[in-house]
Amino acid sequence: MATFYNLFLLVGLVLLPTLEANVKEDSSYFDKRVDLHNAYWQDKAATAQQVNQQAFTSDPYSVTSNLTYSVSELLIGDTKGRRNLKGRKNGPCEATNPIDWCWRCDPNWANNRKKLVECVQGFGRKTTGGRDGPFYVVNASTDNDMVNPVPGTLRHAVTRNGPLWIIFAHSMTIRLSQELIMNSNKTIDGRGADVIIQNGAGITIQYIQNVIIHGIKIFDIMVGNGGLIRDSEDHYGFRTQSDGDGISIYGSSNVWIDHVSMRNCRDGLIDAIEGSTAITISNSHFTDHNECMLFGAHDNSPVDHLMQITLAFNHFGKRLIQRMPRCRLGFFHVVNNDYTHWEMYAIGGSKHPTIISEGNRFIAPNNGYAKEITKREYSPEAEWSNWQWRSINDLYMNGAFFRQGGQELTNTPFSSQDMIKAKPGSYVGMITRYAGSLRCRFGKPC
Ligand SMILES: *[C@@H]1O[C@H](CO)[C@@H](O)[C@H](O)[C@H]1NC(C)=O
Ligand SMILES: *[C@@H]1O[C@H](CO)[C@@H](O)[C@H](O)[C@H]1NC(C)=O
Ligand SMILES: *[C@@H]1O[C@H](CO)[C@@H](O)[C@H](O)[C@H]1NC(C)=O
Repeated sequence: MATFYNLFLLVGLVLLPTLEANVKEDSSYFDKRVDLHNAYWQDKAATAQQVNQQAFTSDPYSVTSNLTYSVSELLIGDTKGRRNLKGRKNGPCEATNPIDWCWRCDPNWANNRKKLVECVQGFGRKTTGGRDGPFYVVNASTDNDMVNPVPGTLRHAVTRNGPLWIIFAHSMTIRLSQELIMNSNKTIDGRGADVIIQNGAGITIQYIQNVIIHGIKIFDIMVGNGGLIRDSEDHYGFRTQSDGDGISIYGSSNVWIDHVSMRNCRDGLIDAIEGSTAITISNSHFTDHNECMLFGAHDNSPVDHLMQITLAFNHFGKRLIQRMPRCRLGFFHVVNNDYTHWEMYAIGGSKHPTIISEGNRFIAPNNGYAKEITKREYSPEAEWSNWQWRSINDLYMNGAFFRQGGQELTNTPFSSQDMIKAKPGSYVGMITRYAGSLRCRFGKPC
């Protein structure tokens, strides 16, 4: 009986999830997106690809070492010794990583909201969102008109043409009737309110640039049926059904997602595909999901060589199964994240992605078959042994192990200075302690 039960568990946990795949990995997915085959979206795609190309950096290692250097400087200090183990402590506020340290302890944050723009690091470091525009106050949680959204709704805000810094008049739960198609140069800033996007469609960032999403919760996202949906002030058109991602980043660049809490979406929590690049996902908390993050949807998409994504200071938490993330072709820096739960694997990929894993904590599940952090898909060892997947200062617990491959990293500030002795992986619990959406009160540090 016990054996039967174990077998059942093994089949349930290990086999079932592999049978499902992200909808975008189905080879007919792009043919079925008839809505994208018209002149309007083709034109947007061509323009976006040029801009994405410019957002791509030819020296990704300098960006990754800058970030790890700033973490170790904050944690360990300079040659004078341990300066700042707890980050800046200021009353009740404790900022424990360099992004938070930049803004979180300011009790006057509500009057300095745009300060956030100076805080982003990693590949999305040039993202300015709606900095150059006015504030827009969302005062209604409704989402009834997809073509002519009512002023004061989130859909009206994100489809405007100019830059906007979008804030919320009060706490609200928004059920999106269809995917929320954003326009460029926007910040969605949930600080000061409890903003939950739940039980409806998700957020689409498609062929646009320069978006910040900060301080909101995205729960229980479903497929939207499609129909006529506005994507900018000058255009609306027919869309096929949406995939059911929490956040879908599609052919876009300069995106920063920070302090977002996410769980249980129909497809991916965050998917970034079709050459999306210059992205940072930080300080976020993820739970209750099978295929968390897909970076690159299929093996034959040369534009995915452009992808450069930083995952920093996130907590991959309870009831997650796999793909944190699953990568193709591009360059991925996974730094100081806390992986406290997976059932199949944590980080995987195919088509020779570069994956630099630094200072993460990996706590393996008890299942003896799932201790490996990494997973190479569809490739024999002779092939994947050349892909650069390196683990630096990661902390492995409960039997977790990372199968490395490819060239060793040399001459990064991180490895050349004494920080290497400090094993930053062991600080990760502290670095990610405030991951997810924060409760910010006016006049108090967040
Ligand atoms: C690294 O940081 C230094 C100092 O902050 C800055 O001057 C330099 O431009 C950064 N390099 C990159 C590639 O971001
Ligand atoms: C909500 O915001 C819109 C757009 O700014 C405005 O026209 C409307 O009067 C506001 N409604 C309330 C109830 O404040
Ligand atoms: C976004 O802002 C940048 C910088 O101001 C500008 O060059 C660009 O045209 C804007 N994009 C759109 C689609 O308005």
